[in-house]
Amino acid sequence: MNEEFALFPESASTAAPIVDGLYTFLVLLSAVLTIGVAAVIIYFAIKYRGGSAAFRGGGGVKTWVEVTWLVAPLPILLLIFLWGAKAAFYMHRVPDDAMQIDVVAKQWMWKFQHASGQREIDTLHVPVGRPVRMRMISQDVIHSFFVPAFRVKQDVLPGKYYETWFEATKPGEYRLYCAEYCGTNHSRMKGVVVAMTPTDFEDWLSGETADETPVIAGQRLFEQMRCDTCHRGGGQQSRGPALEALFRKQVPLVSGENVLADEAYLRESILRPAAKVVAGYEPIMPAFEEQIDEEGILSLIAYIKSLGSDAPGPTPQVEEEGPTP
Ligand code: CUA
Repeated sequence: MNEEFALFPESASTAAPIVDGLYTFLVLLSAVLTIGVAAVIIYFAIKYRGGSAAFRGGGGVKTWVEVTWLVAPLPILLLIFLWGAKAAFYMHRVPDDAMQIDVVAKQWMWKFQHASGQREIDTLHVPVGRPVRMRMISQDVIHSFFVPAFRVKQDVLPGKYYETWFEATKPGEYRLYCAEYCGTNHSRMKGVVVAMTPTDFEDWLSGETADETPVIAGQRLFEQMRCDTCHRGGGQQSRGPALEALFRKQVPLVSGENVLADEAYLRESILRPAAKVVAGYEPIMPAFEEQIDEEGILSLIAYIKSLGSDAPGPTPQVEEEGPTP
């Protein structure tokens, strides 16, 4: 059947069976309760109809009935809670080995960039059997990244990074929608996710003309905007803090607090450096707000990440194509 008219979307990701299991359980439970209540209504309507000989006196509801309907739903509701929490954790914890795609949403398109540089608009190629992390931001208004076949939906707002992930389980073409009303052409803000076998995906990647990788583009921007004047690196004492091995490090601030150098912190420090000044430095860095677009910021962050990370365990995946600093 045509996907658009199917009752349920195809099930094509590792999250799909988890979501579908919970969904089916909730539908069946609702059906059982609805049918049960309807049956009792009909039974009582007949039994106590006007003029029937049914007994209408008596001393109210018995205690055991009260206790039963209060206690019986408890384990069922707890089960729904635990099941839902498990599904939510699964869908929100991005596996460490996920490959990363940068996503910029704007009126009215989805712009993607692979870590190896290839750019796509409204079409996204991914391999099956590998977790894919979508790091997303909007350039204007609220959008929502929605791939029904993967059971993935994530709102994307301006000013902050959002992430979601999926692992496609079978090759095919799956529809991508914007699921948040975002202006005149909202209904046309859609595309397709093409899931391919790993070999087909490699073939596709090597056949595409790759743009600069985000890391290289970031390095170019870094030099172009003269960031290196202050962030000289190489361990020298300079006017700005060193960026080597900064990613995921705890950074001491002038306020006495510490902050984790994650993507949100790097983004804020590029756009509004005065917000969190590193201990031992003066707030002399100019704000780059409105001077650099979202893709530029993503590249700069990719470059800073390529300078090393303080993270224990596997380092983020973008580094592999990076230049040696
Ligand atoms: Cu973007 Cu609706």
